[in-house]
Amino acid sequence: MGTPFISLLEPTRLDGYDSSLPHDQQRDTLPPVFIDAMAAREAVFVQEQGIPLSHEYDEDDARSCHWVAYASVNIRRPPGSPGGGGTQEPGPEPEPEPGEEGQETTPAARSPETRSVPIGTLRIVPFPHPPHPPPGARYANNVLLPSSPPSTSTSTSTSTSSSSPLPSSSPPQTAQTPLERERQQSALPFGPDRRTTYHDGREPYVKLSRLAVVPDFRGLNIATQLWVAARRWLEEHPDYFNPSVAELGMDQLRVGAVGDIPRWNGLVLCHAQESAIGVYERWGFRVDQAMGKWYEEGIPHFGMFARLDIKRSDPKV
Ligand SMILES: CC(C)(COP(=O)(O)OP(=O)(O)OC[C@H]1O[C@@H](n2cnc3c(N)ncnc32)[C@H](O)[C@@H]1OP(=O)(O)O)[C@@H](O)C(=O)NCCC(=O)NCCS
Repeated sequence: MGTPFISLLEPTRLDGYDSSLPHDQQRDTLPPVFIDAMAAREAVFVQEQGIPLSHEYDEDDARSCHWVAYASVNIRRPPGSPGGGGTQEPGPEPEPEPGEEGQETTPAARSPETRSVPIGTLRIVPFPHPPHPPPGARYANNVLLPSSPPSTSTSTSTSTSSSSPLPSSSPPQTAQTPLERERQQSALPFGPDRRTTYHDGREPYVKLSRLAVVPDFRGLNIATQLWVAARRWLEEHPDYFNPSVAELGMDQLRVGAVGDIPRWNGLVLCHAQESAIGVYERWGFRVDQAMGKWYEEGIPHFGMFARLDIKRSDPKV
């Protein structure tokens, strides 16, 4: 197929999004591109993989960049309907028809016979992130389940998401490790993480997640085109997520400590479903053996890292 149209939604407030409702029952004040991302995610993660609807949206969505791929679909009009010649039927019936190179630049309908529908999505979550999941851990709705092994990186943070609640029954507290102490004392959110194969535990990374292509459009390079679009954007905007000195308050804390400001240097992590490892490997990601295997919503996951080739620039002030 040709190139689908791809839209980017930069971080934005998603106030009022109700995670208990499907995308087509949300407020019409929410960004359409985000609603379309949720349409694709619901089709894949909720309907196909059986993940509860209320677990699909999370607090990382508002701070992430979302890419959504659209295809142009034909709307079959029976004879008699407007533009047809017979009796009108209730609604349009989309017919999968991949998009074409050189499509227009909005996902809006182009003619009474065609419209654009979301067929795939991914998001990039900026740093900071909660600690890497402990090997063998089990998460539901981003919360570490109590039966999971205690994290080796911290005794206080248990979630794969930045703002999820702590589990009700935490494992017994043991003496703090030096890393745990450092985390508690860190001026930055989350502080350092445990060292893994490709991550020193400190370097800022962005996270590729919620990659989904609806079943009818798989095997057509849609996921690859989404990743190419996201990767190109990251390479062109390497400082986009870097905090400024003023944002961190470091101008007041330690004058001149610019070296302490987290700066993204091209490192990308994904939490890959085991069945999708091959896709990420084609894109240059490598399994991080030290991260081990854990389970999100009952699905086995592995950590995979890639490093993009970005130009360095001076930190924002
Ligand atoms: C994984 C998924 C996004 C791939 O989407 P897609 O549009 O079919 O992928 P592409 O067509 O761009 O394929 C990219 C490459 O990976 C290969 N590939 C596709 N699915 C694969 C899989 N499950 N395992 C290994 N390789 C796969 C393709 O053959 C292609 O290889 P090539 O470049 O050598 O030809 C899609 O199957 C999906 O949504 N799956 C369910 C949700 C999911 O698993 N998401 C990932 C969560 S971590």
